Amino acid sequence: MTKAMLKVNEKKQARTGTFVDNMSLPVHRWFRYSAGFSADWVVSLIKSQNANRVIDPFVGSGTTLLAADAAGVESLGFESHTFVKRIAESKLSWNFDRSRFADLAKQLVHMAVELESDDIQDRTSDRLLGKMYSKDSLSTLERLRLAFTRLHPAPKGNEERILWLGITSILRPCSHAGTAQWQYVLPKKSKNSAKEPIAAFEAFCDRVLEDSFFVELDGWTKRSSILLQDARCDFPDQLGFFDLLVTSPPYPNNYDYADATRLEMTFWKEVTGWGDLQSVVRKDLMRSCSQHSAAEKLNLEDLLSDNLLAPIRKELRPVCERLAEVRLTRGGRKTYHTMIAAYFLDLANVLKRVRIVMAQGSNMCFVIGDSAPYGVHVPAERWIGELAMAVGFTDYAFEKLRERNVKWDNRVHKVPLHEGNLWIQG
Ligand SMILES: C[S@@+](CC[C@H](N)C(=O)[O-])C[C@H]1O[C@@H](n2cnc3c(N)ncnc32)[C@H](O)[C@@H]1O
Repeated sequence: MTKAMLKVNEKKQARTGTFVDNMSLPVHRWFRYSAGFSADWVVSLIKSQNANRVIDPFVGSGTTLLAADAAGVESLGFESHTFVKRIAESKLSWNFDRSRFADLAKQLVHMAVELESDDIQDRTSDRLLGKMYSKDSLSTLERLRLAFTRLHPAPKGNEERILWLGITSILRPCSHAGTAQWQYVLPKKSKNSAKEPIAAFEAFCDRVLEDSFFVELDGWTKRSSILLQDARCDFPDQLGFFDLLVTSPPYPNNYDYADATRLEMTFWKEVTGWGDLQSVVRKDLMRSCSQHSAAEKLNLEDLLSDNLLAPIRKELRPVCERLAEVRLTRGGRKTYHTMIAAYFLDLANVLKRVRIVMAQGSNMCFVIGDSAPYGVHVPAERWIGELAMAVGFTDYAFEKLRERNVKWDNRVHKVPLHEGNLWIQG
């Protein structure tokens, strides 16, 4: 292999833990989810492991389940964020009827364009939407929303689900404001070009139709299912059923998955603002951000005394106590001390349930990264490995894929971090 080829290979390897390459893959590209990982990598993993039944307790946008469909194996996934689950479910509707979809798409656009102006609500006074869109764009998007809700008040079919995803997926490209892909929105920043909503929606529909031929040629088989399920609670009873788990749980890094869908949920009138996020979304998610641990008013001693944390308590306690001290010296006084304890308790609960549904001798891969809130290092992969051993798995090893927090001088702290695959066997 030449030096250049080696470099390309290295870069590709580092990207297996990211969503970047999925944007050129059929169906995966219908929605960009920056928290995702590479679908091609999952397909090759399923094949190399001869897996027959795959599980993903943190589905996100559905990469693992779609990869399982591409590989023709059975799969089950859980996602407890209602909006994100709907995104994944829409992508998992890839086996739709082409002519029905094309007809419904045409009908939707026709109705959106023809709606009486008096029917279109002026939403420019909404604090978020008003900053994200020009008056014209917002009014056209509102036309699409209204036409969709009138035509499909209770959308159930594959085709309706994909139309909903189409409107959802154009919201960021149609905004002139900063929308770092799938991250929080940045209303004060602006970008050079914003797409026109009807043209963007039609382009989405064309892409969907084109992809349906690709997946037919590729021989995808629909064998996946997804449930709205909190992975910390009891799973449906499938004792020792799965032989491979591929997942990426939230990292203990303060990323707020509820806030990450605020724009989309506001547009669809599922939340009215930031204040709704805890009661509508966050409460069902892993406690991986300080907004969540603050809202739950958690008590550190209560968390640490839970038996499930016994295997890591000796190391976890000083880290949490240090965080409790440091917060008093910081303006934000973020509750990282309880967030970190709650995060590992949540994962211990997930692992306990995962053990029940995994076959003996099975393999699991957790794509995970460590973190350093307030500059205090949290060795996530090692602690998750120890928690897994305590519930009955036999071995774990970490394969580093990427370094983080090493490049820029203006970093909040200088703790070098990494991201990679935590392999757990047993
Ligand atoms: C890193 S993302 C997964 C991304 C996914 N691998 C993909 O390719 O799109 C983690 C996901 O876990 C979900 N999640 C958080 N807490 C959860 C819980 N308690 N049960 C199930 N899903 C949860 C989040 O909503 C988020 O979508």
